[in-house]
Amino acid sequence: MKFFIDTANLAQIKEAQDLGILDGVTTNPSLMAKEGISGDANVIAHYKAICDIVDGDVSAEVIATDFDNMVKEGEALAALNPKIVVKVPMIKDGVKAIKYFSSKGIKTNCTLVFSSGQALLAAKAGATYVSPFVGRLDDISTDGLALIEDIRLIYDNYGYETQILAASVRHPMHIIECAKMGADVMTGPLSAILALLKHPLTDSGLAQFLADHAKAAGK
Ligand code: G3P
Repeated sequence: MKFFIDTANLAQIKEAQDLGILDGVTTNPSLMAKEGISGDANVIAHYKAICDIVDGDVSAEVIATDFDNMVKEGEALAALNPKIVVKVPMIKDGVKAIKYFSSKGIKTNCTLVFSSGQALLAAKAGATYVSPFVGRLDDISTDGLALIEDIRLIYDNYGYETQILAASVRHPMHIIECAKMGADVMTGPLSAILALLKHPLTDSGLAQFLADHAKAAGK
């Protein structure tokens, strides 16, 4: 399972990269705004800075919502670095744009996916990744993880190569359940990834080992 970090914060991306388990980064316009990044030149410079840190795919989202401008923006983003994956919303022109990018060998991430029908369309258009938003479905009392399971079944039925990128992951159990269901990738905050480290028996066991070592050494 690939681990992507869902942030535009360079310090957090670096921390995850240094941990040695990072496979990529996803961003979106809200995450860029959270870091105070605005204006075309700054946005471009920030994507370049992310690509310099991470070994793996970096999703950069188009702002346009019509086919022609999505293509223009997406081609410019893809030209920045081979790591860039053009993130396109699941709307009618977005599906057309994904088909276009796929025919040109440009990687895509179909975002804002909330149903298996949308995921089927993304796969048919040739998306590299599909991003079902697990946490946001949970937020409206709908089972986000059930969507991951349904998409896995549908893609396996037909051998679609589109990778299931479980997005809007919020906590470690989302990650574990997505791994059990066979999601190809998960993206979430650094806190959810680091929470996987935690177990009280690890902490107490380590404390005991160190205490016994010190005792044996007569300290
Ligand atoms: O990048 C898209 C997705 O991961 C957003 O997550 O937590 O804002 O629902 P969240």
